[in-house]
Amino acid sequence: MFSNRTAWNLESNPLSKALSERIASGKPVIDLTESNPTKCSFYFETEQILEALSHPASLQYEPLPQGLLPARNAVSDYYRARGCAMNVNDIFLTTSTSEAYSFLFRTLCNPGDEVLIPQPGYPLFNFLADIQDVTAVRYPLIYDYGWQIDFHAMERAITPRTRGIIVVNPNNPTGHFCKADDMERLNQLCLGRELALIADEVFLDFYFGKGVLPSFASNNEALTFTMSGLSKISGLPQMKVAWLIATGPEVLKQQAVARLEMIADTYLSMNTPMQLALPVLLELRHNFRQQCAERTRNNLAQLDKLLSTQKLCTRLNLEGGWYAILRVPATGSHEEFALELLNTRGVYVHPGHFYDFPTDGYLVVSLITPELRFAAGMEALVALIDEKFRKGS
Ligand SMILES: Cc1ncc(COP(=O)(O)O)c(C=O)c1O
Repeated sequence: MFSNRTAWNLESNPLSKALSERIASGKPVIDLTESNPTKCSFYFETEQILEALSHPASLQYEPLPQGLLPARNAVSDYYRARGCAMNVNDIFLTTSTSEAYSFLFRTLCNPGDEVLIPQPGYPLFNFLADIQDVTAVRYPLIYDYGWQIDFHAMERAITPRTRGIIVVNPNNPTGHFCKADDMERLNQLCLGRELALIADEVFLDFYFGKGVLPSFASNNEALTFTMSGLSKISGLPQMKVAWLIATGPEVLKQQAVARLEMIADTYLSMNTPMQLALPVLLELRHNFRQQCAERTRNNLAQLDKLLSTQKLCTRLNLEGGWYAILRVPATGSHEEFALELLNTRGVYVHPGHFYDFPTDGYLVVSLITPELRFAAGMEALVALIDEKFRKGS
């Protein structure tokens, strides 16, 4: 009765099973994976948020496929503040970046066509592609004191069925971003092979360095689709507002916009109260970003201090984002280690394979975890490693 595309293995894995059982039995869990900002003890301006949601114009329905103009203006203002000008007619509001990916895959791909995705990367890509009958093909990111795209492997991954290259800027969970050189190489590759460039920039504001990161939203060389949204920028995933921006050679861009508009018109998925609230909710990003920067800075400092006391566990360099990647002795699978950590210390971390790390020995933790919880969890993790590996048990 069901489609092949939904024939997933829906069994929960041993780690998720162990987590559910532990929670059900009332045992404590120190969760180091939480990346839902509404569950990480941040301060949100409750009154302003709720007031923004009760705009009187919410009682009217103006079905505009790309979204209401004041909302698209707010998105354009966000980019203008980063020095990036755009035409509001090239912006589409969507309920999530997941929806934006679906619109894009439907616009660019026939069934069985391929899009390139980074490895390690965002766990949802395979599902997003499956649902649209698209094949996600990995290109490797390599680590050598910092992450970079393996462009040779990326080129080798391109086939006649490839329709686009996805870059996450900065990437989840590696936290590295595309430098000017990378952008240029991506443009050349996409132009030469007639591919679309798809840039997911939900973490763009969470850069650890000075200044702001350049956005693909000002890229006019290859046909480019840039997406972001409130879920990370303002820490408000529950509001379900994201956007997609088309840039690139004018004729191609206009064709893409016309096709996307038809898809958006068919769904009209944005609700009015959220669109009217968007200017306020986007403005609140400054407060969230500041808190986030402080949290990630404190957690990283705490982590580095702890790691400096031993040699078995290290962390990889990162430039931004919300995650830290830990390198641990790879004597067993990373899932086995995560399971042991949960069962014996009550600490929950993501094994690297959750993010498609190709080898064992990596764990991923969320840097927006509240500081006390983060410190307690990391201490328990380092203690377990010390016990297991230093003493050779
Ligand atoms: C790379 C990346 N894109 C998109 C999202 C989610 O965005 P949205 O809530 O708009 O679907 C996430 C969430 O973790 C992410 O890591």
